[in-house]
Amino acid sequence: MRMHISVIGTGYLGAVHAACMAELGYSVVGVDNDEEKIARLAAGIPPIYEPGLEELVAKHIGTGRLRFTTSISDVADADVHFICVGTPQLADGLGADMKYVNEALERLAPHLTRPCLVVGKSTVPVGTAEQLAQRLAELAPVGAEAELAWNPEFLRESRAIEDTLHPNRLVFGVASDRAEKVLRELHATMIADGAPVVVTDLATSELAKVSANAFLATKISFINAIAEVAEVTGADVTRLADAMGHDDRIGRKFLNAGVGFGGGCLPKDLRAFMARAGELGVADALTLLGEVDAINLRQRDRVVDLTRHLAGGSVIGRRIAVLGAAFKPNSDDVRDSPALTVAGQLHLKGAGVVVYDPRAMDNARRIFPTLTYAESVLDACRGAHVVLHLTEWPEFRELDPAVVGDVVASRTVLDGRNCLDDHAWRAAGWTYRGLGRP
Ligand code: UDX
Repeated sequence: MRMHISVIGTGYLGAVHAACMAELGYSVVGVDNDEEKIARLAAGIPPIYEPGLEELVAKHIGTGRLRFTTSISDVADADVHFICVGTPQLADGLGADMKYVNEALERLAPHLTRPCLVVGKSTVPVGTAEQLAQRLAELAPVGAEAELAWNPEFLRESRAIEDTLHPNRLVFGVASDRAEKVLRELHATMIADGAPVVVTDLATSELAKVSANAFLATKISFINAIAEVAEVTGADVTRLADAMGHDDRIGRKFLNAGVGFGGGCLPKDLRAFMARAGELGVADALTLLGEVDAINLRQRDRVVDLTRHLAGGSVIGRRIAVLGAAFKPNSDDVRDSPALTVAGQLHLKGAGVVVYDPRAMDNARRIFPTLTYAESVLDACRGAHVVLHLTEWPEFRELDPAVVGDVVASRTVLDGRNCLDDHAWRAAGWTYRGLGRP
């Protein structure tokens, strides 16, 4: 018989996971205490924009394999419960807020009256799973027949469905053979497709996730640090990254220099990892990550400074077009978005900032209501003294520099993602500046 699954938390991770589990043929119930979110999901509307998600949710509401509820007691008969709630950065500190994870377990456990596996997917400080396992044993009526495992999620926003259905690896943090067997059965399709499986203990699985994110962040900050050196020597960091990346020990991915990383994961996971190391008495081991964070934030300041320079020494009264608000393309997520941080700083310095993003305008307006938003790229660029390219949406890369050139006040572009065709922009009479490029 096919397993029944519950997914607790229907935000980014949970909504994607629930829909993908239904796609694999399981009967899935998604639970959240946000009534509005559940009502919208039940009507087929996901809480975020993610390519393909709306279609997948609608499809499986249709097949009857996917339903949503606000009532945790509705999940009692599931064989596997996935905890997919958020672990945001604490408002008053750098650590992760574990409130939602703890609440999820406290609410779920009393309903566990039959054998089941509770699987954590959220990104958590190492040691959390062990604590949750103890709490589960105390609270679950079925006792040891309800077991905890950890299965960290490595999906990328904008490719979340592909990453979930075809993961590049599966990590199972388990405390028993039984838990491993259930997780292998549950992921049988992916394993048959060749996804490598790493079976390990709870702590290693928790650390694997934060270490992977810390490494990716380090790669980006490394190339951004090199970009600063390249810039003063007349070298080109994009060609330099190509030269480095051909070495398959290094690899070309995540060596794109620019305005740096943002989003709901890399920045906060980096800080939470350092905070946890501090609690464990090994803060010195991760001082490197403090520098990774500092280099990353410095890119935003560098873009602001360069913009001021390109605007003739001051941005007061200057019109600046900001192309991009999402932290990355094909997403409407503006959490810790470099583009919006830069836009906000320029606004505070007296510039007339006009922002355009193909998808993230509503979210951007909510957190930066004082900025001006345009309905199209050309409207954003109209009368601009400097155009900033800060999120590499395909539609920005495909812009015709001659057409944009007709509406601006000054043909000056700062490519904060180093991916516009600099030859084409220069040929159309633009002053083109990249980051870490001549
Ligand atoms: C990341 C991890 O990749 C993923 O495995 C984890 O599960 C969650 O965190 P995500 O935040 O969706 O995923 O985005 P990612 O594609 O990793 O990009 C993160 C940020 O780094 C973006 O702001 C992106 O623009 C930036 N980036 C990425 C660079 O600045 N340069 C690069 O070369 C690559």
